[in-house]
Amino acid sequence: MATSKAWMAAALFAVAPAMAAAETVKVGVVMTYSGGGAQFAQQIDRGMELYMAREGEARLGEHEIELIKRDARNPGGDAAKVAVQELIVREDVDLLTGFIFSPNIIASAPLIEQAKVPTLILNAATAWIPNLSPYLARVSMSMWQTGFPMGGYAAEKLGCETAAVGYTDYPPGKDSLEAFQMGFEQAGGQVVDAIPMGGPAEVPDFTPFMQRVRDAAPDCFYVFVPAGNHAAAVFKTYADLGMRDAGVRLIGPGDITQDTQLQGLGDVAIGVVTLGQYQADLDVGTNPEFVAAWHEAYGEDSTPDFMAAAGYDGMAAIVDAIVEQDGEIDPDRTMAIWAGWSHEGPRGTVTIDPETRDVVQDMKVNEVYAEDGRLKMRTIDVIPQVKDPCKEQKVGRCAE
Ligand code: PHB
Repeated sequence: MATSKAWMAAALFAVAPAMAAAETVKVGVVMTYSGGGAQFAQQIDRGMELYMAREGEARLGEHEIELIKRDARNPGGDAAKVAVQELIVREDVDLLTGFIFSPNIIASAPLIEQAKVPTLILNAATAWIPNLSPYLARVSMSMWQTGFPMGGYAAEKLGCETAAVGYTDYPPGKDSLEAFQMGFEQAGGQVVDAIPMGGPAEVPDFTPFMQRVRDAAPDCFYVFVPAGNHAAAVFKTYADLGMRDAGVRLIGPGDITQDTQLQGLGDVAIGVVTLGQYQADLDVGTNPEFVAAWHEAYGEDSTPDFMAAAGYDGMAAIVDAIVEQDGEIDPDRTMAIWAGWSHEGPRGTVTIDPETRDVVQDMKVNEVYAEDGRLKMRTIDVIPQVKDPCKEQKVGRCAE
């Protein structure tokens, strides 16, 4: 008897770890939920929601995620920092995510570093952001991942010998300029003008900036403006100034041909080539199922864009970290799980580079065309598994 009791006790002890309690993991989500940026937050929220419904909930088992959402309000950084402070101190969150605009995560990084809260960035794209703290990882993109290869592509494949660059004057815009210029000039092109075109919060009148480009008459005009309603104003000015007819080819990162804005760009967009990690018609990875599920959940007229894809993949990374730790979040273990994390999603395979904690992914060259009275994009080239070129080449703050 005694022997069998001892055996039973040992057996119970042995199974105990597998019966760990159901944990609720608190995830703070900081995004622009009001104002012009609310459209981005909706894309990311829906992407996250769709991952949970399709896979996340089943994978979490008994564990739960409590999303605590806070409004970053604008791209300025101050409101985001207050929100992050409150999420850390008052809500005691296990993880942080979101961050659409670069200044919002740049302002928050010292708090994240101090409190050691693993943070997964779902958009903010200034290349050097992950260098600010070992507790930052990114699943979205870097502006060097678009600008640098597009520089080479423009010189080698699009026949651009000279180019002007127009950019929104804040960190991801400055990155876009430097990245495009380095890629373009390494491939033999020449940047003849670089024009700051206002800040991210308000859509400026682009006419004076773009008139300057029309007068300089370069072969190509590389434009970075943040996603949202800036792009439609750029395309309208491009049409109004007759720049396409004057032979100035408009190119840019995928941000200027965002799926959700495409129909507002007008016919002048036909033939425009951009380089990005996602477009809704991609036939790669899990995108066909993702888009079908999106239409079913949010309606035929709604389309996901690159932000939604990042929300979807980001939630997968969060769920993976929770499942692997059986619901008990340890900051350093979480970062170790994300380092080298890989996943097949709507963009194809995305990996977090263990060296830089930044995303590695296929970059697609997309061309706008019209079909059945609608603007669409088709992928005409793929640059496989691009690591952030800013960190690869140790440029400026990327070397820190
Ligand atoms: C950013 O602020 O980092 C940002 C915002 C919107 C974009 C790209 C980058 O489309």
